[in-house]
Amino acid sequence: MQTHLTGRDMITPDEWTDDEVNTIFEVAFDLKRKRALGEPHALLRDKVLAMMFFFSSTRTRVSFEAGMAQLGGHAQFIESRTTQISHGDTAKEIGEIVGRYCDGIAIRQVDWGVGNQYIRDVAQASRVPVLNMQDDWYHPFQALADMMTVFERFGRDVRGKTLNMSWAYASSYQKPLSVPQSLITLATRFGMNVRLTRPPEFKLMPEIMDLAADNARKSGGSFEVMDDFDAGFAGADVVYPKSWGATMTTTDMEESKRIGDQYKDWIADERRMEMALDHSIYMHCLPADRNIEVTDGVIDGRHSAVYDEAENRLHVQKAVMALTMR
Ligand code: CP
Repeated sequence: MQTHLTGRDMITPDEWTDDEVNTIFEVAFDLKRKRALGEPHALLRDKVLAMMFFFSSTRTRVSFEAGMAQLGGHAQFIESRTTQISHGDTAKEIGEIVGRYCDGIAIRQVDWGVGNQYIRDVAQASRVPVLNMQDDWYHPFQALADMMTVFERFGRDVRGKTLNMSWAYASSYQKPLSVPQSLITLATRFGMNVRLTRPPEFKLMPEIMDLAADNARKSGGSFEVMDDFDAGFAGADVVYPKSWGATMTTTDMEESKRIGDQYKDWIADERRMEMALDHSIYMHCLPADRNIEVTDGVIDGRHSAVYDEAENRLHVQKAVMALTMR
């Protein structure tokens, strides 16, 4: 168990060793147990987390803020549009200055070609840990919460279990690539058989694909790309059908929508869930486009793990904050 994590940034778990990632899960399970028993765990008393949002959020905002309060500290909600960031504060200035006021800086910046670099630029200038609340490439805390949920349902040894990370149709907006990219690189580290199922226009970044394949080789799992929506469900233990933009095909979001409109039948429904194993779980990071991306019957049905998944955001985030912001 690796315990020397004070001061570390969490931009992607890909930059944390297996031992370090397992430490996060150990601590997350312990903090979940402590909260269930009402045991105080004020590990970050008097510490302050700056939460900087360039994009909307429900779960991330509420869970980070609640988590800091439960750890005995405080979280500040900061929006780019209501601060001088909108008038030119640079990433370097934010890292330098906010890092002098606060004990951690958490950032959500999902603009394609901007977000990850922005977070890295802040981290370069910051004396305190920088936590990625979602960028254009990664959603690390979502993937950690997703894996924690998989461990809860299937045990810590998930070797040989099949996880189908699938594209699904949505009409609300062209969602980032960050959730599938973070999950396929994390799940392949644990020896899972990971499927990436998507129409050909909805590719992920080549370096992410290479990393997932490499992880699978090292862990004894597998990584397979499929383009048949139904086949992705067949025999799966975990199904995770969610939408993302055709960003690797076009950065024009209108064009991305037009491409996606060809695949309106890619909806997670009861017939498809029946194709997965009887004990299978349905996962989604939320928000979902109900009855477009997934039917009410599936998301509210017996396979759904979406509320446990959302809850686990709190526990993995508290774990990383407690480990890095001490
Ligand atoms: N899953 C997730 O990140 O939710 P929010 O966008 O509401 O934070």
